[in-house]
Amino acid sequence: MKILGIETSCDETACAIVEDGKTILSNVIATQIPFHKIYNGVVPEIASRKHAEWIMPVVKEALKEADLSLDNIDAIAATNKPGLMGALLVGLTFGKTLAWATRKPFIAINHMLGHMYAAHLENDISYPYLGLLVSGGHSIICRVNNFDDIEILGTTIDDAIGEAFDKVAKFYSLGYPGGVIIDKLAQNGNSKAAEFPLPILRGENHQYDMSYSGLKTAVINQLDQFWKEGYPKTNENIAAAFQETAIKILLSRLFRAVEDTGLKTVVAGGGVAANSRLRSILAKHTEINCIFPPLKLCTDNGAMIAGIAYHYLKRGETSSWTTTASPRIQAFKRGLLRQHKP
Ligand code: KG4
Ligand code: ZN
Repeated sequence: MKILGIETSCDETACAIVEDGKTILSNVIATQIPFHKIYNGVVPEIASRKHAEWIMPVVKEALKEADLSLDNIDAIAATNKPGLMGALLVGLTFGKTLAWATRKPFIAINHMLGHMYAAHLENDISYPYLGLLVSGGHSIICRVNNFDDIEILGTTIDDAIGEAFDKVAKFYSLGYPGGVIIDKLAQNGNSKAAEFPLPILRGENHQYDMSYSGLKTAVINQLDQFWKEGYPKTNENIAAAFQETAIKILLSRLFRAVEDTGLKTVVAGGGVAANSRLRSILAKHTEINCIFPPLKLCTDNGAMIAGIAYHYLKRGETSSWTTTASPRIQAFKRGLLRQHKP
């Protein structure tokens, strides 16, 4: 079964064709980074306009790359939440229209479930496992029971980890997107140059929760207070010290969840899963089997959308033509993120 998956939730116009939820036949990602770079962040209106301009050529390119025509496609899928409303509407409306016009089934996909599925495209992974969903909008530690059944154990109480990377980079004018640049700079910096305080979240309800606004404030507004004598305040050192603390916060919660749940397989997803420091620490861990998607599948892509859609379709579950976009996922706090019906 060949599914065409569309992703336009933020600043990548993406389309991929995936066979049987596993084999990537094409994966086209048109990044809008150059257009948002000058503003040091994503401008929603520019994102929507670029998606509208690029969606048709990107879908055509995905078909060409796979050497297929629309006749060979069994179903169409598109992200419908969460994300930027205008951006989501472009891909969703295009996907629904294409499916309706070609009389194919349509499946709307939750972007975060898509990120969680990305690692499955290149690995055989059995459920349940611990999920680490880290992106520009979310920081989630979860128990993953099935592709559509995620139990959120912990999340950020304020900023997402990727957002913290982006905001620190923006403040120090390091460039955009912040995560990638900080990751690169940190490789030539010394993480011991500063010692930032770690957030303390008390109470049983917060065992696996994180907070990033304190770290962000410390790096941006109180750098002198936490800087160690003898280290020059270079961008490399700031990046390394910030990144080390950001990863430490995440891993302390993850390791606690591993211990408490007894789940030794951790599957990562989302843009921050591309972080080289996070990947190297987890790769060296002897008790945890951590599975990361390849870099291209960590950040937004259509392959994760087409891949997960196959599993809904296999159950005969498709979305109605009235399915709409939503900027948020309801109740994306601790608790269940079940989406048995697309
Ligand atoms: O998953 P994604 O492409 O979009 C969202 O769903 O948010 O994630 C984008 C986020 C941005 O905050 C970006 O700075 C971060 O992922 N990111 C990274 C790295 N690559 C991307 N953060 C840390 N290290 C990286 N190598
Ligand atoms: Zn994403």
